[in-house]
Parts: sequence; C-alpha cells; structure tokens
Amino acid sequence: MRAKILEDRGEAHLAGIAVVGCQWGDEGKGKVVDYLAERADCVVRFQGGSNAGHTVVVNGEAYRFHLIPSGALHNKKLFLGNGVVVDPEVLVDEIDALKTRGINPKLLVSDRAHVTLPFHKILDGLQEDFKGELSAGTTKRGIGPTYADKISRLGIRVVDLMNREVLEKKLDKLVGLNNKVLRHVFGSTESLERDRILEECLKYGSSLREYVGDVSLEVNKCLDAGETVLFEGAQGTMLDVDHGVYPFGTSSNSTVGGALTGVGIGPTKITEVIGVAKAYTTRVGNGPLPTEESGELGDKLRSKGEEYGTTTGRPRRCGWFDAVTVKYAARVNGLTGLALTKTDVLGGFDRVRICVGYEYNGELVDEHPADLGVFRKCRPVYDDYEGWPDLPTDEWRRIARQGFSALPRQLKSYLGMIEELTGVYVALVSVGPMREETVLARKIR
Ligand code: IMP
Repeated sequence: MRAKILEDRGEAHLAGIAVVGCQWGDEGKGKVVDYLAERADCVVRFQGGSNAGHTVVVNGEAYRFHLIPSGALHNKKLFLGNGVVVDPEVLVDEIDALKTRGINPKLLVSDRAHVTLPFHKILDGLQEDFKGELSAGTTKRGIGPTYADKISRLGIRVVDLMNREVLEKKLDKLVGLNNKVLRHVFGSTESLERDRILEECLKYGSSLREYVGDVSLEVNKCLDAGETVLFEGAQGTMLDVDHGVYPFGTSSNSTVGGALTGVGIGPTKITEVIGVAKAYTTRVGNGPLPTEESGELGDKLRSKGEEYGTTTGRPRRCGWFDAVTVKYAARVNGLTGLALTKTDVLGGFDRVRICVGYEYNGELVDEHPADLGVFRKCRPVYDDYEGWPDLPTDEWRRIARQGFSALPRQLKSYLGMIEELTGVYVALVSVGPMREETVLARKIR
C-alpha cells in the first residue's frame, strides 16, 4: 500500500489523512502532524483530552499543548471533535497563552464534547489507588471518570456550559451521586459544592462561547470543499480502550475508528492512515511490555531519547522495536503508510534487535493475545541486525536534505525489515526533532 500524501507531494487534493500511534503513545505524532500540517488546511483532534501533550519549538521558544491540536502556530483551522474530553481550565489557559503571543487560534470546539471537571481528577487518583496492581498508572487528568460519566449518560457537555437551566439539573444529579461515591466508597471527607461548580462552569462557558460550534458540520464542509484535513490521534493503538492492552490503557478509541465517531465523518472521508512508530518501544504507565529492557540498555535509550512523559514528566519504560505490535496496529487501523521516528536515537549500537514474535509455553505467537495472563508470560523472540552510526545533528540534517538514498545503509535495511514484518510501506523517516530532520521515503523494495 502506498501513502499518497507522502509519495505524491505536489498533488492539490489530499482530503482526509488520519495520523495514529502504533505503540503505547509518545511515538512522535506531534512532529509528523506538524510536518504534514504544512500542506494541510485543518487539524482535528478526535479523542483523549489533556492526558496528551506535545511541545512545539518555534524560534527557540517552546510551546506546550495538551488539548489544542498541532498546527496552532501555523494558523491552521483547528478543531476539537465530540470524542475529545475537554478540561475547560486547560483549554482556556492554552488559548490565553497563544493570545499573549499574538495568536488568536482559529479554533472550533464541538458543542457535543464532554467536559472534565476538577472532581473527575480527584476520582481518577482515588480509583487508581483502589485498583492497585490493575491500575494503568494514569496521567490523573480525569480522563477515565469523564468518559465514564459520558457513557453512563450523566456527563456535562460543552454546550451545557452555556445553559444555566440544563447545567443546574445535570449538576444536581452528578454532584449528588459523586458526593455519595466520595463519602461512602472512598471514605473521603471531601464534599463537592454544586453552586461553586455551577458558577465555575458558567464562567468557562462564557470564556469559550466564541469557540464552540458544530464540528462535524464544519469539518465535513472543509472536506467537501476539497481542503486537506489531518485527523490527529492522541495516545496509541496499544492504549485504545478496545484494541489496546486492557485495562492498562486509556478510556477512548485512539485507533482510526475514533476519528469517525469522535468527529462525525464517514469512513469514506479518510483517504490515508499514517501510523507513527518509534524505531524502538517506549511506554509510560503500567502493564506488560514484552520488549522492555530494565537494565543498561533501557537507561541508555531513555537518556539518549529523552524519554520522559510530556504531561507527567515520568520516566518512560524503553526497549527494542516490537514488530508484533506494529503489525497489529497496521491491521486494526488499516494503515496506508508508516512514519518511523527517532531513528537517530538508535544510532551507535553495534547491533539492533527487532522482536519478530513472542514465545509462550514453548510456542511461537505472532499476534497480540487478548488474555492478560497469556500476554504477561509472552517473551520476545528477536532477530538481530547490524546497527548504524551515531551521527551528529548536522550530519542527519545533511542526509535529510539529500533524501532517502543518503540514509546509512544499515538503517535502510532495518526499515526494509520493518516493512516486511509489518506489511506496511515506510513512508517517512524522522532523524531528529525538527522539521528539517525528516526524510521522505521512496519505495524501499
Ligand atoms: P489516562 O489516559 O490518563 O487515563 O491514562 C491511561 C494510560 O494511558 C496510562 O498508562 C497512561 O500513562 C497512558 N497515557 C495516557 N495518555 C498518554 C499519552 O499521551 N502518551 C503516553 N501514554 C499515555
């Protein structure tokens, strides 16, 4: 399969391109979206909330966003779909931060998106403690409790922040129930005050009013007008609530299906699905991770790759590339191309390893088992390849300018192996954090 946006740069009409993570989040989706956004008109987020995080460096100044989509600094049309959970405090802060730098974002937030309130964050922490060894190690941003309220049809939507009458009725129930939960389930002495929450919500409603509307309608209009729309996934396939390593993931669909329900578009509107994968594996939070290296190698990858969470600052668990996982991501997302990031970080090893299967009870497994008990016992089976040199930034930039053929020979054969093992064409190779450190791949074999 071919990734047309990347292969045919220069074509005018590219329509809907989804960018999703193939591993456990932090694959570098922000950089890939930023690179593609150069040619796009709109960037749309469709799931997750302020658990996500990306840092954009422009003119030496770092901008850190949790909710606002990538592309804010390029004056693109930005959308937060109904599938996103919106923490209004975070969103208002991010809009203000942009405004103080002279940027009034062209942002539209879905009136149907659900709202994260401070008590969702309190509940997130209490539930994590309660779950013990089944806790996912969440970001404590209130993501799970907000989606739980949405599914149990008790949630507050963005549109409600602008309607006192509806809000009062909903908060009566929501605050009433959660006070009981806090007191009787968790033995907390904390008590939520409905009136204070009501006034806070109305205040956020008036700050956000100008940015709220029907995102499905507007995104479809853009697509129908032939604009290029990027659908920016947050987290990654293995954190998806349905297709990830349940219960050690997040509470939304971070796979491509989430882009349909989380925005209100039909499947025919997505013409490309680009999967982003790191050249090795990382994750923050708990749960089995077959290729994790806890020793010297893990430390080396962490320090060289600066593998610390953008949202929580937690050190990430690191290990070799897991082709079983990325092949799985290719299937559940219907990937049309892979973007492989941080290949520069993997430079300097004599040999590099790819996990080509798992060993379970003496058998070779090459699919992700649903049974957590089985997955926990899966041991990686590796193939080894020759490593490529550790090059200085200037050298990677020179290579990026020259193009794919200038990549180190060993890296090209590593990419070829990844294509073979996952069945997906490597369309883009990232050799550093900056835009100019990106290589468009041609057909490799
Ligand atoms: P939650 O989304 O905060 O509920 O966290 C659930 C799990 O997903 C935890 O293991 C988190 O560490 C992980 N997680 C959530 N958001 C991200 C992200 O943006 N990058 C990487 N991991 C994430």
